[in-house]
Amino acid sequence: MAEGLVIVGGSYAALHMAQGARENGYGEAIRLISDEPWLPYQRPPLSKGFLAGKIERDALALKGEAFYRDNGIEVLLETRVSAIDRQARTVTTAAGANLRYDGLGLALGARPRLLKIAGADLDGVFYLRSLADTLALRERLARPLSIVVIGGGFIGLEVAASLATLGHRVSVVEALERLMARVLPPVLSDFMAQMHRGRGVEVRLSAGVQEIKGDGAGRVASVLCSDGSELAADIVVAGIGVVPETGLAAAAGLACRDGILVDDAARTADPAIVAAGDCVRYPSAFTPDPCRLESVQNASDQGRAAGAALAGKPQAYRAVPWFWSDQYECKLQMAGLSPGHDRLALRGAMAGGRFSLFYFRAGRLVAVDTVNRPGEHLLGRKLLAAGASLTPEQAADESFDLKALLAA
Ligand code: NAI
Repeated sequence: MAEGLVIVGGSYAALHMAQGARENGYGEAIRLISDEPWLPYQRPPLSKGFLAGKIERDALALKGEAFYRDNGIEVLLETRVSAIDRQARTVTTAAGANLRYDGLGLALGARPRLLKIAGADLDGVFYLRSLADTLALRERLARPLSIVVIGGGFIGLEVAASLATLGHRVSVVEALERLMARVLPPVLSDFMAQMHRGRGVEVRLSAGVQEIKGDGAGRVASVLCSDGSELAADIVVAGIGVVPETGLAAAAGLACRDGILVDDAARTADPAIVAAGDCVRYPSAFTPDPCRLESVQNASDQGRAAGAALAGKPQAYRAVPWFWSDQYECKLQMAGLSPGHDRLALRGAMAGGRFSLFYFRAGRLVAVDTVNRPGEHLLGRKLLAAGASLTPEQAADESFDLKALLAA
């Protein structure tokens, strides 16, 4: 008797795996196992509109219950998988149940990197990854607070923007000399810093955090920085990066290197097991070495490819990576991967708050970042997908017609 598919995970990659399998004609049972108490939901609003109270809980679901019913996807919530037995083709849950599979999808995601300083366990220290995290933080925001955000990356800056807009006093403490250094060039980091400072957020760069001090009753009172200065804090939110969830795969003997290793069709070396999303490292046409991406786009598109592989119809995953971040009225959209570029062209004026940056490596367009130019972001994605040949001079020239280039 067919055992069907087991998909471990409860977010974008898991949902898209199930959908990818069905779309490719998979006809047996599909079970999706998530340790969260909710059906897969949108995560981007957790640090943006949902944190700011502009979006309500019900609007977060990615799909309603009918979708799972109609597609024959059984969802087991609040269920944690603790082991995989590849010989027996079973997964064991923390409650001790054994579930058999013909095909297994791992969409395990990533977990927040934790602060390792004194005071990190005080009441009032938050991380932001799940709906539960944001719900817990929201409960504490009823009165104006002093909030220290540790980490000036995606989470830190989106949280800072949301909370400053709500009227809280916000400081951002970033270890590196500039914001979002992992993904942005210095010129954009400076633009972001200026924007936050313009909104009254104190941005501290090259700033270490030494200790979180308590009030004597177990609650956060202040953050002691490495330079000896102290920032008063009712709440601390840490966004200092994530760690891919590879433990389950590694324990089952699957190859991992800061991510579960898969091929370009999301397959592990075990023919019955695929993996996708934040937990995966894969060979990408956009990077010289296998890469691991943390984005909705990657989880969705790679999840789809993994589902196709589970259905016996593997297909290469070659989508252009893209990301976005909303902070205040700034919509930052990123297409391609800019790290490693050797030239950069500015299109438009940064002072106006609407512009694009085109990145080149060895004469080839490799990425396009746009600020409040959504049309140019879409165009950038298409140019990258088409491998269009564009020079930095053309990119910088606003009279140069990018649409015509694409059509040609
Ligand atoms: P991140 O990698 O974007 O930023 C972490 C920042 O913390 C870096 O700037 C790093 O230099 C800094 N940092 C690390 N240790 C520190 C320390 N001890 N003290 C001060 N600063 C320190 O990671 P982040 O913001 O935690 O986000 C995690 C993930 O969440 C992202 O990679 C992404 O998957 C997801 N995310 C994506 C969003 C988007 O695409 N718009 C928005 C929010 C989250």
